[in-house]
Amino acid sequence: MVMRKTIFMICFTSVWNGVCVLENGLARTPPMGWMSWGYYMCGVDCERYPDKCLDERLILSVVDSFYNEGYQEAGYEYIIIDDCWSEKQRDKHGRLVPDAKRFPRGMKYIADYIHERGLKFGMYTNIAAITCMKYPGSKDHFRVDAKTFAEWGVDYLKVDGCFVGEDYLNQAYVKLGSHLNETGRPMVYSCSWPYYIEFIHNNTPNLTAVSAHCNMWRNYHDVSNSWGAIKAIAKYYETNYEILAPHHGPGHWNDPDMLILGTGSLSESQTRVHVAVHAMLSGPLLLSCDMGQITSYERSLLQNLDLIAINQDPLGIMAKPYSLHEPVTMWMKPHFPMKGDIYPSYSVAFVNMGEEDGAVSFAPAQFGLNCTDGYSVMDVFTGVFLKNITLEDEINITVPPEDVILYSLFPL
Ligand SMILES: *[C@@H]1O[C@H](CO)[C@@H](O)[C@H](O)[C@H]1NC(C)=O
Ligand SMILES: *[C@@H]1O[C@H](CO)[C@@H](O)[C@H](O)[C@H]1NC(C)=O
Ligand SMILES: *[C@@H]1O[C@H](CO)[C@@H](O)[C@H](O)[C@H]1NC(C)=O
Ligand SMILES: *[C@@H]1O[C@H](CO)[C@@H](O)[C@H](O)[C@H]1NC(C)=O
Ligand SMILES: *[C@@H]1O[C@H](CO)[C@@H](O)[C@H](O)[C@H]1NC(C)=O
Repeated sequence: MVMRKTIFMICFTSVWNGVCVLENGLARTPPMGWMSWGYYMCGVDCERYPDKCLDERLILSVVDSFYNEGYQEAGYEYIIIDDCWSEKQRDKHGRLVPDAKRFPRGMKYIADYIHERGLKFGMYTNIAAITCMKYPGSKDHFRVDAKTFAEWGVDYLKVDGCFVGEDYLNQAYVKLGSHLNETGRPMVYSCSWPYYIEFIHNNTPNLTAVSAHCNMWRNYHDVSNSWGAIKAIAKYYETNYEILAPHHGPGHWNDPDMLILGTGSLSESQTRVHVAVHAMLSGPLLLSCDMGQITSYERSLLQNLDLIAINQDPLGIMAKPYSLHEPVTMWMKPHFPMKGDIYPSYSVAFVNMGEEDGAVSFAPAQFGLNCTDGYSVMDVFTGVFLKNITLEDEINITVPPEDVILYSLFPL
């Protein structure tokens, strides 16, 4: 008991795989939802750019889409306002103030609207004195800001890491996390900490420390609305699998950033690659788009329950990449259901990022699958059960360029 308490004191956490991880009961599966940044960015000029306006009307319209168009039933839950939501000055008590024109009824109104529909509300701050877009940040205001967010009914807080040094990042994320905890309101704590350490300060992030204090964290550059960005993100997770996977699991996730569906940026096959990689990584599924621009094909992918089951699997295992035969990478991930608590199901994604066909061959036994009765193979994108295979049976497939073939194998 004393021992246990000591561990809690050191890292506010519980022990997972022998290491301390944040244990606030949240994000047991990767958060799903919508976030403003990718598409609306700093959408403050609502008169000139009404279609890119970050305001109350937009947020409530996303809530209505989730509620009315099947997203909520599929698991999409968090609606997150990113940077550029506040006035440029704090109030006389030092509190953050929502922009009076764009959020005239304040954030509590939005939180209530969201909660009444059974959804959850996320907001944003930066760990420095100003945000990345130069709005007031939380430095020297951790306590009051944590309290303000809690009072508004915030369920998720994204905390950016612009404009500060490495030592400060390493201390401040821990400190802000403890202030969030002290409010007593459970808030998913989304950190950008390792990204800034690795790409701004050119150092190696300590993911043991990050996972002890954050529910999820960004590792790599912001996604942009392009196929190039989607390829680069997948490549980063492939290259760094051994470093990232041990820290990934229920309550603590590597975050490959937002989905770019609904932005007209990808072909259908590229979109399949994008969602398949996110699902296989157990990455948070956060849309960032005008919900009205999501095509019916994209919507069928976003609401494909077999795909979501891979992403939201309770084991939360990050898929492992195998470089099969250029240009195809196979990602493999064990998940529920289990046969007799012994044999997990597996999903395998054959991803072809190249511009030519990729022919590959896969036999379950080669990759350690060992259910001697074999497996039933389902194509995740069509929902069709293709065939039953033994451990030695080879699946020979040709993956078209910039496409993916994604199978789930259920033990027989
Ligand atoms: C605060 O931390 C404790 C110890 O890890 C945890 O049990 C509790 O759920 C946390 N509370 C909140 C509101 O995050
Ligand atoms: C990383 O953080 C953990 C937990 O805070 C600490 O025990 C460990 O010494 C750190 N590792 C390095 C290399 O600094
Ligand atoms: C089957 O594989 C799993 C996962 O690698 C392993 O834990 C288990 O011991 C294996 N079972 C048998 C009977 O070989
Ligand atoms: C696979 O095996 C199961 C169980 O024996 C059977 O119900 C199913 O019809 C088989 N599927 C195919 C496609 O052969
Ligand atoms: C799969 O391809 C291999 C050669 O790559 C071949 O030996 C094998 O017979 C093929 N299997 C099937 C079921 O077509």
